[in-house]
Amino acid sequence: MLFRPLRVGPVTVGDRLARSATAERTADDDGRPGEPLREIYLALARGGATWINTGCAYVLPSGRSAPNHAGIYNDDLVAPWALIVGAVRRETPAARLFMQLVHGGRQVARQCVPEPIAPSAVPLAGSPVNPREMTGREIEECIEAFAQAARRAREAGFDGVQLHAAHGYLISQFLSPHVNRRTDAWGSAPERRRRFLLEILRRIRRVAGPDLAVTVKMNGEDFVPDGLTLAESCETARALAAEGIDAIEVSGWIIGGPERQSPVRKGPPQPAEEGYYLPQAVEIKRAAGMTPVGACGGWRSLERMNRALVGEGLDFVAASRPFLAEPDLVNRLRAGQPRAACVTCNGCFAARGAIRCVAIAEGRLTPPPFPAKDAPAP
Ligand SMILES: Cc1cc2nc3c(=O)[nH]c(=O)nc-3n(C[C@H](O)[C@H](O)[C@H](O)COP(=O)(O)O)c2cc1C
Repeated sequence: MLFRPLRVGPVTVGDRLARSATAERTADDDGRPGEPLREIYLALARGGATWINTGCAYVLPSGRSAPNHAGIYNDDLVAPWALIVGAVRRETPAARLFMQLVHGGRQVARQCVPEPIAPSAVPLAGSPVNPREMTGREIEECIEAFAQAARRAREAGFDGVQLHAAHGYLISQFLSPHVNRRTDAWGSAPERRRRFLLEILRRIRRVAGPDLAVTVKMNGEDFVPDGLTLAESCETARALAAEGIDAIEVSGWIIGGPERQSPVRKGPPQPAEEGYYLPQAVEIKRAAGMTPVGACGGWRSLERMNRALVGEGLDFVAASRPFLAEPDLVNRLRAGQPRAACVTCNGCFAARGAIRCVAIAEGRLTPPPFPAKDAPAP
């Protein structure tokens, strides 16, 4: 099942194991991507990945969450992205590239954004700087920035964009009653808190046209007191499906929630804990109807991934850390390797500088030879 194609709006991907967005930390001071990023995507595409989400790319300088994150906030950034997309397309026509679009809101790098903005002036645990409540005009500018970023992604040759509405970044802040305390048209009732996300989707459709797939990565739950609940996320999924979103990737958690619920929880997941947002994704799939729904978080074995698709009714799964250890993970699983080699040590998450598998760099992990000798027949 994992290797059956999937239709994602106007785009068809060749299999159902997406590379979940993973900030590569390779961009220059202006957010310009270059050769190192091209090499990362080429390795993934050569290794059989047909659905590649980029790491988060910020749509405005005010939404930059780390100095070396990539950006898509002005037209000068189209050309460097187009070089990367062109190189991947020439070599591996089967790969479909989706740019993940983000504004960090209150979760930004202090050295880049001295005065962070957020739906409400709710402090971020552990941050010495309080965010400032956004004005109505700033909200409008952000919506337009997402739409222009999507238009740029299309001009650079991307097949789609993914809206980062999870993990406590700006769209997730609007959705979350824990962070969004507004009493105007953008807050209070669930329909008003989800309005920011829906307006972005509508604006992208208007500005970027029908050929660009638009997906979303959203929390099933925030896992903080007064945070977003699964029942409300199901309503949001229903609204997104009615507006024609092309796919929903379910994740969870915002800063302040327990580590054991975090998307990047540490330690190899036991088989029964693989795909730790599966229960939320199953509920969201029920609400979203025909819209493809998948889950990220902890998928390691082919058997569990397939079970989520066949037994639980998900349309796809997504993985991040395993692709750092084995960029050719899709080909390996296709060839019968039973599970990803990733030891889920979080070295990649804790490290600074360009993204890499730290366990391999430190000699703690050696992925099996390809194709794995002791693997069962596919
Ligand atoms: C180093 C690193 C960077 C990440 N960057 C992003 C990102 O830019 N956008 C995003 O939505 N999630 C990001 N994530 C979360 C992953 O997409 C994924 O949801 C999470 O790691 C769980 O999946 P996994 O167990 O397959 O790694 C990142 C994770 C890691 C480890």
